[in-house]
Amino acid sequence: MAEESTNATLSNLATESRSFPPSDEFAAQANATAEWYDRADSDRETFWAEQADRLHWHQKWDKVLEWDAPFAQWFVGGKLNVAYNCVDRHVEDGHGEQVAFHWEGEPGDTRTITYVDLKSEVCKAANALTELGVQTGDRVAIQLPMIPEAVVAMLACARLGAAHSVVFGGFSPGALRSRIEDAEAKLLITSDGQYRRGKPAPMKENTDEAVKDTPSIKHVLVVKRTETEVPWTEGRDVWWHDIVDRQSDEHEAQPFDSEHPLYILYTSGTTGKPKGILHTSGGYLTQAAYTHHVVFDHKPGESVYWCTADIGWVTGHTYIVYGPLANRATSVMYEGTPNTPHEGRHWEIIQKYGVSIYYTAPTLIRTFMKWGKEIPDKFDLSSLKVLGTVGEPINPEAWMWYRENIGHDKCPIVDTWWQTETGAIMIAPLPGVTATKPGSAMRAVPGIAANVVDESGTPVGPGGGGYLVLDKPWPAMLRGIWGDEERYRETYWSRFAEQGYYFAGDGAKYDDDGAVWLLGRVDDVMNVSGHRISTTEVESALVSHPTVAEAAVVGASDPTTGQGIVAFVILRGNVAQDEGKGADAIKALRDHVSKEIGPIAKPRQIMVVDELPKTRSGKIMRRLLRDVAENREVGDVTTLADSSVMDLISEGLKDGGKSED
Ligand code: WTA
Repeated sequence: MAEESTNATLSNLATESRSFPPSDEFAAQANATAEWYDRADSDRETFWAEQADRLHWHQKWDKVLEWDAPFAQWFVGGKLNVAYNCVDRHVEDGHGEQVAFHWEGEPGDTRTITYVDLKSEVCKAANALTELGVQTGDRVAIQLPMIPEAVVAMLACARLGAAHSVVFGGFSPGALRSRIEDAEAKLLITSDGQYRRGKPAPMKENTDEAVKDTPSIKHVLVVKRTETEVPWTEGRDVWWHDIVDRQSDEHEAQPFDSEHPLYILYTSGTTGKPKGILHTSGGYLTQAAYTHHVVFDHKPGESVYWCTADIGWVTGHTYIVYGPLANRATSVMYEGTPNTPHEGRHWEIIQKYGVSIYYTAPTLIRTFMKWGKEIPDKFDLSSLKVLGTVGEPINPEAWMWYRENIGHDKCPIVDTWWQTETGAIMIAPLPGVTATKPGSAMRAVPGIAANVVDESGTPVGPGGGGYLVLDKPWPAMLRGIWGDEERYRETYWSRFAEQGYYFAGDGAKYDDDGAVWLLGRVDDVMNVSGHRISTTEVESALVSHPTVAEAAVVGASDPTTGQGIVAFVILRGNVAQDEGKGADAIKALRDHVSKEIGPIAKPRQIMVVDELPKTRSGKIMRRLLRDVAENREVGDVTTLADSSVMDLISEGLKDGGKSED
């Protein structure tokens, strides 16, 4: 990450003395108390067994944890069905009429789905998937907008013991194809189109391109959302309403082993190839449900909960689907963008449904700040009780704005640190216990162990800074990278192999009170609006364009998106340099990246240069490029093979070759 933004954060936290304890009233009714930390510390396994007992097990486990580093098995010998836990048991317990989802479509259409409705839809979908040949152990790819069928499809897979691989709707056909190939998915579930900023946009055309040449895919199941005309392949393509609606709404959920795969979710690493993060059933659901219960102080049947993430990211998996449903939540699910048709849409939805728990991302909070406090001021937000954030470090200014203008000084803010790999929240306040500090995720939740260590793996202690590690296995931890054990060991367990720590890839610091402050990634992974994108992935996309010889990509700090993607490219010799530097050529390159990976990876800025700064061993010095991208004086160049390169770059940039919109 940018050392400079680390320094900015460090100096911030040196002066940060504000602290906000919960009100006595909030503390008195909270789901978790301070005593939970000690209880968990004194006997972790008993603590986690108690949390697992909140679920329904068809067969109880024999052993809480089997740890053969770096491979964990939790609740060994136990059997459960994840979908049964999320749906059926609530109906059997007499809560069938409780609303599971208040769904709000972008154009303003709505659907109310009770637990009985959800059970019926999931059973029908499970029967339909079976008819389409999906069996326990198979993989199913899902690329859908934020519609109820996305949740139903995931739960139907879980019910059958088929692992789903959800791919974010904004990813390109190429990105979808490589994920289908890697997991050898048998079925793709998608839609005709999707609403985006008030207009229907194509979906099936893109997914068709992705499955042009993927022999593992036997069928494409298509949900009708936008009524768009779509291309159709007879024999392969099936409408959701044709096959699902005619199924029986009875389906008996089979118990699966606690370690049975639940899903694969691809995330960017430091190489170009995304990693298929594998999560399994019992431990994952235990931690998902537990953290949702204690960190959001969720009260079943009372709270109205809204997580604004997309189903395509891990936050959507754990905190729209599995955690809340396991806890019998009533959730809001919203299909669209926050400014369609107006910039108060989120506040309008909170007012309409009486949302009490709102969980969103810092980048969105900064966008709301930009739009102005007059917008939320027009709505009644008095139902809110707890506010959450996730995805990137939240700057104290945005935290305070959120507290004052959305929480009206009475809602605890829970800044939650976790990753696709951790499966569930790891570091966060307990809203009824913790005196929170603006910008800090505070400390690991009860039952979770985290530490900050130096280069050599030695804990730094209060006031010290270094690398964030997880030093004990946790129930929702990834069980591996799909099909690549070596990469799993190498990526997460080699950096501190001697100590046996999981290396999270994030820098962190303890303040003098021992609160943890996350400082961003220390590897070549960028964080743009809370989305993880690797520099190498964008570089490969650029180099795949016929005019580009070489590319170097950095994440430069950005006031709204956290980081913005800035690319430096060297054009091929046969490209007329003036033309290659022109606005049209730069636009073509940005569009090319968007087409290759998806619009989230479109560079904010592309600069055409003649040389790139490299060390003698050929490693690109991104630090220097970041100086340029952030308009700073260029730092120490002594390790460059050719120290005049930076002058050339700065000179060259004065003559154009820079573009952004
Ligand atoms: C970053 C999202 C600071 C971090 C759940 C991590 C955060 C990466 C926070 C994981 C936070 C997430 N404070 N940084 N509260 N939450 N991050 O896999 O760099 O999409 O490693 O999971 O986001 O991103 P991922």
